[in-house]
Formats: sequence, structure tokens, C-alpha cells
Amino acid sequence: MTTVIDGKQAAASVVAAVKDAAEKLEAEAGRKPGLAVVIVGDDPASHAYVNSKGKMAKQCGFKSVQHTLPEETSQETLMALVAELNADPEIDGILVQLPLPKHLNSDAVIQSILPEKDVDGLHVVNAGKLATGDMETGLVSCTPAGAMILVRQIHGNDLSGLNALVIGRSNLFGKPMAQLLLNANATVTIAHSRSRDLAGIARGADILVAAVGRAEMVKADWVKPGATVIDVGINRVPAPEKGEGKNKLVGDVDFAECAPVAAAISPVPGGVGPMTIAMLMANTVIAAYRAAGRQAPKF
Ligand code: GUN
Repeated sequence: MTTVIDGKQAAASVVAAVKDAAEKLEAEAGRKPGLAVVIVGDDPASHAYVNSKGKMAKQCGFKSVQHTLPEETSQETLMALVAELNADPEIDGILVQLPLPKHLNSDAVIQSILPEKDVDGLHVVNAGKLATGDMETGLVSCTPAGAMILVRQIHGNDLSGLNALVIGRSNLFGKPMAQLLLNANATVTIAHSRSRDLAGIARGADILVAAVGRAEMVKADWVKPGATVIDVGINRVPAPEKGEGKNKLVGDVDFAECAPVAAAISPVPGGVGPMTIAMLMANTVIAAYRAAGRQAPKF
């Protein structure tokens, strides 16, 4: 029987642990973890994500603040806000929702966040710590950290002898995911749109992680029998079966085809998705513990 990995349940247990840790910090150090989310412009999907981040932060017992800036915000104004949040002792985590409007330089904004408050794990200092295997003082990008918890649920902490493939090489996901798998002793391949014979490479993977952004691209004959398949895609596609003009979410993996071949597979929705926000909460509570000079919890 194939195991369908339940991301909602895994996320709920991370959130429960975050909540406990936040309560403990407040009882012992007299302060709540503080998360600031910054959003520029009015993209409805980004607003939906940001709202759910704020709601979850409150549920976790955090101080939660949201800064909503207009589309035409200048680089200087945005950088000044980040500087203010960097200096605010009640704020432990800063997240600038991406993508930013085109006239803004995202990288300059992200790199201006203090690394210890970079709960997105996108600062070069955090990327460098992950790359050098320092898991004690850095912060790891939320979606790969969440995907890794799902992998550990199936395989445990030591992936020695296992071949892992990450399809996708973004700074937000593919590269940090590959580093996490490597730190756990997997033999890691990173493939991308310029790779030759993606299907052939995929068939060698005991752990196949798909983050390409193409609906249902991974087919049954890409999957090694008995593999673990982690689907990081979120693609909205037409669903005429649900009624005219309706859509549905699908991953980068053709779930119906691949599930019978895999031993374990994460669905979309309900797989990696719920983990991202849970790990943002985890990173914020970790940052708050460190700011208070305490040993941070592990997730
Ligand atoms: N937009 C989509 N995903 C993310 C994320 O993980 N972090 C940020 N900052 N923006 C996003």
C-alpha cells in the first residue's frame, strides 16, 4: 500500500510544538515571539498568503504585525521599513512577501534584513550556513525545511545510501532542499529545465522531489518503484468537471499515475503546502529563543 503523506497533520504537530515553545518563552522570558510581514502592492494571491501567515502567527501566540505598502512604494521607503524592523527588539522575524513589484530590487531588500531575523532563510549568510552544514545558528528556507520533515517521516534522519533527486534549482527551494538532503547523507542530484533525460535521471531516485512549476509533469514511468515522491508544485489548472470556469490545484507530479508506483507520496493540496507556513512559525520561534539568549527548539 502506498503511504499518502499527510502534510496537514505534520504541519499541525509543528504548530502545536511552536505554540508550546512560545508559551514557555513568554512564561520564562516575559516576551512573545514577534513576526512582521511586509507586502507591497495588491496581488490577491500574495494577500491571501500573507493573511494566513498573520492568522497562524496569532494562533501560535505571537505578536503579529503586517505592513501593507502601495504598489508604487520606492526602494528607499521599503528599505527604511526593513531597517526599522531590524532595530525593533519586539520583532524576531521579518518576511517580505515575494514577488515584489518589478521596479523594486528584491535582492537588495532581502539582503538588508538582519540574518538572525531572516525567517525566510534567503539571506546569503543563512544560505551559506546551510551550505556549510551549520544547522545550529542559521535559519532554513521554510518550504524545503517543511519538505525535509516529510522526508524524515518516511526515512528517518539518516539518508545514507539513498539517491535523492531535486528537480528545480531556485534559491527559494531547489538549492536549499538539495543542501538539506546532502546534510542528511543522501546522494543528491539537482536537475532542471536544461537537464538531459530528466525521466531517466528520475528513475534512479529513491527520493524524488519535484519543484518545477509545471502541472503534472512527473509521470509514472519517471518513478522508481518504491520511491518516496515529494511534490512541491502548486499549479492552478482548469477543472471543467467541477463546473464551467472552475479551477483546481495540482502539483508537478501526476498523482493518480505515480501513487501506485511510489511507496510514499505527498499530495497537492495537503502535502508540502501546509508545511511552509508551519515552518515560518518554527523559524520565528527559533529566532525569538536565540534573541533571548536561549537554546532554540528543534523541529
Ligand atoms: N512568495 C511565495 N512563497 C514565498 C516565500 O516562501 N517567502 C516569501 N517571502 N515570499 C513568497
